[in-house]
Amino acid sequence: MDTHIIEEGLVKIEVPDFEKVSAKAPVFYNPVMEMNRDISVAVINQYRKKVDHDISICDAFGGTGIRGARYSKEIHGVEKVVVGDVNPLAVEISKKNMQLNNISNVEVQKNDANILLQSNKGLFDVVDIDPFGTPAMFTQSTAANIRPGGLICISATDTSALCGTYHDPCLRKYGAKPLKTEYCHENGIRILIAFISRNLAVNQKYLHVLFSHSTEHYMRVYAIVKRGGKKTNKALDNIGFIAHCPNCLHRETTYGFAPKIPHTCPECGGEYDVAGPLWLGKIWDKEFIYNTMELVKNLNLNKKDDLMSLFEKCYMEADGPVTFYDIHKICKKLKISSPKINDVMDEIRNRGYFISRTHFKLTGMRTDMPLDELKQLILDIKEDKLGPEK
Ligand SMILES: C[S@@+](CC[C@H](N)C(=O)[O-])C[C@H]1O[C@@H](n2cnc3c(N)ncnc32)[C@H](O)[C@@H]1O
Ligand SMILES: [Zn+2]
Repeated sequence: MDTHIIEEGLVKIEVPDFEKVSAKAPVFYNPVMEMNRDISVAVINQYRKKVDHDISICDAFGGTGIRGARYSKEIHGVEKVVVGDVNPLAVEISKKNMQLNNISNVEVQKNDANILLQSNKGLFDVVDIDPFGTPAMFTQSTAANIRPGGLICISATDTSALCGTYHDPCLRKYGAKPLKTEYCHENGIRILIAFISRNLAVNQKYLHVLFSHSTEHYMRVYAIVKRGGKKTNKALDNIGFIAHCPNCLHRETTYGFAPKIPHTCPECGGEYDVAGPLWLGKIWDKEFIYNTMELVKNLNLNKKDDLMSLFEKCYMEADGPVTFYDIHKICKKLKISSPKINDVMDEIRNRGYFISRTHFKLTGMRTDMPLDELKQLILDIKEDKLGPEK
């Protein structure tokens, strides 16, 4: 295997030569995921600060070992990291990479992620699940074996399933119906979180989501796992369905596992499309994001600006309602060209409603203003722009 050395964060990593990023590479390495790794370093650092004791981390899908090495070097108070991978070449290169960086607190194992987690019950404070495609078959062992109070960091790259391009894989893997809407990435994350929550619930555990995002081709969720039967029951109250009207774009949420979901849109009489079960609770913890941003200021990360921009957007939208509107989609329905989004947002703010952008979409607006009022406001702004004589 021909290799070369790259630098990321505070480590030097030997990676296989490649022309195109591919799961078929002898050992997988994707430079585009640097931001994902930077975010993980920031979030785990903040988690470590919050729990205020040394932590042990499991990087169950190690690849080149880049995460394990970075977690060891760049996170304060890490007692031990266990890096696992089923690919013997990945294990070999990961071991070399630990030597290359003079790291002694990382153990590299050739192991299937589920077996690794099962054989280390209660050992890990942080479990990082970064597989090819879906994490679905690894969430149960994560749920069963992570320390209560531990942090899970879970990636999913099967966004075509979670976002509804393909229905059947989403039903099969997550037991949920996706929906291809303008806010399908948000739905996807909510489906993923509901799925993880249901897996945790089997072990009387539940989630407190700290941070989640959809970037490039992947989604990522960071959440604390807590324990308790009654609290788990209560947490499951956050699961429900979204009914979406493709005709007028109205949507409504219904909580529960088998609720009476309306079939018809009350606004236009159109037929609802339904997505779920999905997580209707919080997908960001505002205080945690704020503290992480403060911490990032002092970290030496290549993607710092991108991180700050993402954290800021999520911070702003954290307390908003479930789902957002796309100004272009609304204007298409109104058969007008779009006014400036900032003009619309200013007016929504003036009227006392919640309003923010969303990191999910450049043209998205998260607001609790009723859709009818929003449409009228957009029309009014448009008319003002055209001038009173027209
Ligand atoms: C997306 S890559 C991980 C990339 C790495 N985390 C990084 O940031 O560069 C997925 C890795 O999981 C490994 N893998 C696939 N199935 C596995 C399993 N069941 N258990 C453990 N590792 C597995 C693959 O060999 C591959 O190295
Ligand atoms: Zn409707």
